[in-house]
Amino acid sequence: MAHQCGNCGCDKDFGTPEKFSDTLIELEIDRIKVTVPQGTSVMRAAAMAGIEIPKLCAMESLEPFGSCRLCLVEIDGRRGHPASCTTPAEAGMKVHTETSQLAKIRRGVMELYISDHPLDCLICPANGNCELQTMAGRVGLREVRYGYEGHNHLSLQKDESNPYFTYDPSKCIVCNRCVRACEQVQGTFALTIDGRGFESRVSAGQNEAFLDSDCVSCGACVLSCPTATLMEKTLIERGQSDDHIVTTCAYCGVGCSLVAEVKGTQVVNMFPNKNGDANHGHACVKGRFAWGYATHPDRLTKPMIREKITDPWQEATWEQAIEFAATKFKAIQAKYGQNSIGGLVSSRCTNEEDYLVQKLVRAAFGNNNVDTCARVCHSPTGYGLSATFGTSAGTQTFDSVQDADVIMLIGVNPTDGHPVVGSQIKRRLREGAGLIVVDPREINMVNSAHIHADYHLKLRPGTNVAMANALAHVIVSEGLYDENFINERCDPKEFQTWKNFILEPRNSPEEMQEITGVPADQVRGAARLFAAAPNGTIYYGLGVTEHSQGSTMVIAIANLAMATGNIGRTGVGVNPLRGQNNVQGSCDLGAFPHELPGYRHVSNADARAVFDAAWGVTLQNEPGLRIPNMFEAAFEGTFKGLYCQGEDIAQSDPNTQHVEAALRQVECIVVQDLFLNETAKFAHVLLPGASFLEKDGTFTNAERRISRVRKVAPPLGGYGDWEATMMLANAMGYPMHYDHPSQIMDEIAELTPTFKGVSYAKLDEMGSIQWPCNDDAPEGTPTMHIDGFVRGKGHFMNTEYVATDEKVTRRFPLILTTGRILSQYNVGAQTRRTKNSIWHPEDILELHPHDAEERGIVDGDWVGIQSRAGETVLHAKVSTRMQPGVVYTTFHHPFSGANVITTDNSDWATNCPEYKVTAVQVVKVAQPSEWQQRFQQFRGDQETFLKKPKKATVDS
Ligand code: SF4
Ligand code: SF4
Ligand code: SF4
Ligand code: FES
Repeated sequence: MAHQCGNCGCDKDFGTPEKFSDTLIELEIDRIKVTVPQGTSVMRAAAMAGIEIPKLCAMESLEPFGSCRLCLVEIDGRRGHPASCTTPAEAGMKVHTETSQLAKIRRGVMELYISDHPLDCLICPANGNCELQTMAGRVGLREVRYGYEGHNHLSLQKDESNPYFTYDPSKCIVCNRCVRACEQVQGTFALTIDGRGFESRVSAGQNEAFLDSDCVSCGACVLSCPTATLMEKTLIERGQSDDHIVTTCAYCGVGCSLVAEVKGTQVVNMFPNKNGDANHGHACVKGRFAWGYATHPDRLTKPMIREKITDPWQEATWEQAIEFAATKFKAIQAKYGQNSIGGLVSSRCTNEEDYLVQKLVRAAFGNNNVDTCARVCHSPTGYGLSATFGTSAGTQTFDSVQDADVIMLIGVNPTDGHPVVGSQIKRRLREGAGLIVVDPREINMVNSAHIHADYHLKLRPGTNVAMANALAHVIVSEGLYDENFINERCDPKEFQTWKNFILEPRNSPEEMQEITGVPADQVRGAARLFAAAPNGTIYYGLGVTEHSQGSTMVIAIANLAMATGNIGRTGVGVNPLRGQNNVQGSCDLGAFPHELPGYRHVSNADARAVFDAAWGVTLQNEPGLRIPNMFEAAFEGTFKGLYCQGEDIAQSDPNTQHVEAALRQVECIVVQDLFLNETAKFAHVLLPGASFLEKDGTFTNAERRISRVRKVAPPLGGYGDWEATMMLANAMGYPMHYDHPSQIMDEIAELTPTFKGVSYAKLDEMGSIQWPCNDDAPEGTPTMHIDGFVRGKGHFMNTEYVATDEKVTRRFPLILTTGRILSQYNVGAQTRRTKNSIWHPEDILELHPHDAEERGIVDGDWVGIQSRAGETVLHAKVSTRMQPGVVYTTFHHPFSGANVITTDNSDWATNCPEYKVTAVQVVKVAQPSEWQQRFQQFRGDQETFLKKPKKATVDS
């Protein structure tokens, strides 16, 4: 159902899309003069002049269709009554939107609609927010001369198969908005109008139930529907809202702006903000619908403490729990030294919270033992882009793709991982841009409705750098590089060194074919296509970073972009698609053990001096422990205390058994989270976390865009995450005081040059800001490196391909690679507690028919997956999306134990785990693995400890 987000006018719908033209034309509508860009519809021109022409099938986000005939106008000198939505404005036109003849026609149109519409307005869930109802009032409908007894659709059955919305065909006015939204906004083409004339109705797929069709539940059709035909189930259950709050999605790195519709503190609906700078009114199934976890009964709402992980939990007050944690930490430091404790920052939390946790560690703990989950996803991006360009971030806006001529996707699956960006990319591809996919697996984008990749370079996992070198070899050896750009913008000596290296015959596609498994002619074709494009852009994801050569590959991508001159303007660039909502922000704000906020190394005395003065401490000048180093130090007995805010290392980090054993060595683990996650089962203090609906703050998305998160309801546990961190700092003896997260942002701005111009007031005014935002760029920086690289000259670096140590053998003949799917999110703690689980109730192992047949495996069999690190058991799915020799799974369910199999191998520069390459054997089995059986037992014990807590006996 279409939504009006309140009375502020921010959602005014102009009826047809905005047009851009240097040619302006003037026309007159109802005697009002209006000037519009050429190509603008009469309907939009009228709206710009403040005149609302009645409409039902038109919508600003969709190309006009001209079917409802409600928007007719009269134009001097023209016969008949043209539809204003499909008629372009012309210079000198004189348009009349309200005449007695038009009123008569419009009432006639409405009569026809209403004669075939249930008259249940008072009990209809759309009552008060229905465009049909509004239009009936608008045109002054007073009678329906045809009666209601004629041939109609009132007895058609509802489709309630989708967990989030219903389809009631009896209310459909066949305006086609949903069909166009699915095609033009989402790019899925799941809907059609079935039947002809009076019989026509919307159909999902081939007259299937929505749940069985290709629909990906993005909700775009529901948002476009002017009636209650497509309707959110929460609105049906809870009724219309009385207020709305604009906030930011807490799932992926796209950072969609969302409007929470509320009744008091209860959310009744969430829909994408049409003014959202990252998403422009679109969202995916997670942000749009999967927010119910925020009030799930599993939420931790009371602090808990215990001495040992074999003890039941004891309920405590916040004061007791904080005092308990601080006493333990201080005792550990007294016994084992200042560096024996540390903290983990979460990429799910806000910038302000992330900043505060690293401040807690550096100022209150007195060391640099702070790390973040970006360690296990995009730390190579930080290293590689910083080394080559000088800034650890993507170079573009998401909108930039609309100017791209060729799009290269490397190790990224946008339709599943970053769906709204996926839809934006698909739109550009439908308009004719070229597509190169570099991925071991056939991701959706290779072949989907109206989209076919020009090249799918289906390489062997672990051979990215070989592939990038082969592409670069073609570009250099065939003289396809951009000499002018390189001469002007890059260090010429370094380019020459790289050129000599890349021209070596061993980097040619023919030589690399043996390694990558991709025919040389395909590599040559792809390289030529990319290099010849006026604007070529590269998107990449964890399929690039989570390798032993993750950082090398990021550098290789930067080399490719510089060599082809694809940096520093719209339509080009290097775009790392960050996994979690605030990976960018956590990295920006000092969550790594070697960097202070703003990517300043801890060894930099000048940078330290700034923080020493502001925080009143003397910071250590040596980097602290990274997450894997924390585990090793735990085994060595030198790391004994951990504060972990919003991160689940026991599920998300590789080699689970190793992680579990390390966590058992730690004397005090404080977990602050929404749920009893896997790490919390090894904890001694549980602090209830606050969901994104319960906090104020900001997230920074993958295009460096800082957006506001706004509080909709008070925290279920009583305190926001930032308040808990503050209490712990104070209990540790380091005074910390803020009244509101905006004050934390003010401190960030004061101490971080790239954030200097950021404030809540400016964010409220502008909607969002892309950093750097400072005196040089007071409104932010949409495109980076326009006149020069941040580091000065672009830095070409040699990227020698080095094969991973993780080799296939007779014992482990297959390669396991991992990824994610649309409906679930990372460790699944949130999405598993929503109806999204209907689409992915368990992780499964995909394998090629050849590998399956060799092992006698068919769909649905239990299969054991063994690696050097461990074994787990999943159900099998035979799929030609895999290449022979490569198997694939996701990691959204803890029982799956995907990370029981992954190894300790990691990126040479950053320790980012090599999740994407694990040598395994797959065999048919009959029962879960030993680890899974132990996991079940441990989980059962820990859940019992939580469900039957004792009252605290400690003194506060
Ligand atoms: S929910 Fe999205 S994918 Fe499904 S039919 Fe509607 S627009 Fe298409
Ligand atoms: S379902 Fe809604 S949007 Fe789609 S054709 Fe029917 S009334 Fe229009
Ligand atoms: S999960 Fe990502 S794409 Fe989906 S609504 Fe949230 S931010 Fe947007
Ligand atoms: S709004 Fe123009 S024909 Fe429907």
